[in-house]
Amino acid sequence: MRNSRLDVRPLSGAGGAEIFGVDVAQDLDDDTVRDIRDALNEHCVVFFRDQELDVARHKAFARRFGPLFIHPNYGTTGDDPEVVMVRREPGDAGHIGEDWHTDTTMVAEPPMGAILYGIDVPPYGGDTMFANQYLAYDALSPAMKKMLEGLRGVHSDITEAGPLAGKKNKNRSTKHRDDAAWQETRNTHPIVRTNRETGRRCLFVNAANTIGVDGMTEAESKALLGFLLAHGNRPEFTFRFRWQRGSVAFWDNRSTRHIALGDTGPFRRLMRRIQIGGDVPI
Ligand code: SIN
Repeated sequence: MRNSRLDVRPLSGAGGAEIFGVDVAQDLDDDTVRDIRDALNEHCVVFFRDQELDVARHKAFARRFGPLFIHPNYGTTGDDPEVVMVRREPGDAGHIGEDWHTDTTMVAEPPMGAILYGIDVPPYGGDTMFANQYLAYDALSPAMKKMLEGLRGVHSDITEAGPLAGKKNKNRSTKHRDDAAWQETRNTHPIVRTNRETGRRCLFVNAANTIGVDGMTEAESKALLGFLLAHGNRPEFTFRFRWQRGSVAFWDNRSTRHIALGDTGPFRRLMRRIQIGGDVPI
């Protein structure tokens, strides 16, 4: 195995690492891209500071890790379907990403990751928290692991887009689609996912999209998911990133959940997000 030439400094025992000395707006050589990918696989989320990224450079950096992913439920954040502007204005009562979630898991091939860039960052507040789902899986009892083997979660966007998004959209600047042409996307995925790159198992359910357990009654699903959703967010699996203008967060969407905290008070928070395509969860 090659030694990484990057300056990678872990943020916590649960995951996350800051990478120093890399200008992600430059054309990166293959070894550097490989080292960033290795760091992502090891730490689940990597962060960079003081970057200058316009849309084209942001996309070019993301493309080094896979094809860009187009989110089906944002029609309103700009002209470019590959870009989502995540905006919270002073006075907004809600915002995108306000509950613990993994991104866009209702599709058959959920994105492998996302790269979020801080454009207008409040002086305090608006941190993003992440939860490491490898650790969440590892902490389960052998009996629970055995029970989850072979179970599949039902993932849908029905609670976040379409008719149910209308009320939430009134209170937030970035909105999910709620037009008449919107149609639900639904797929099932294994509740215990194996990351093809690391070979490690993680929990793969989230509050935004997992609405049931395939083959179980509503009551059974509710009880099991209730436990798994709360368990995955336990403080010892989490870490927290404080943003500055020019910060970049690149998360592995296969092995983490995240939440954008709403404590931005009188300040605006504006980020640019680009997602990277993934594969069928196994
Ligand atoms: C998201 O959930 O993708 C946005 C996260 C953030 O704004 O911190």
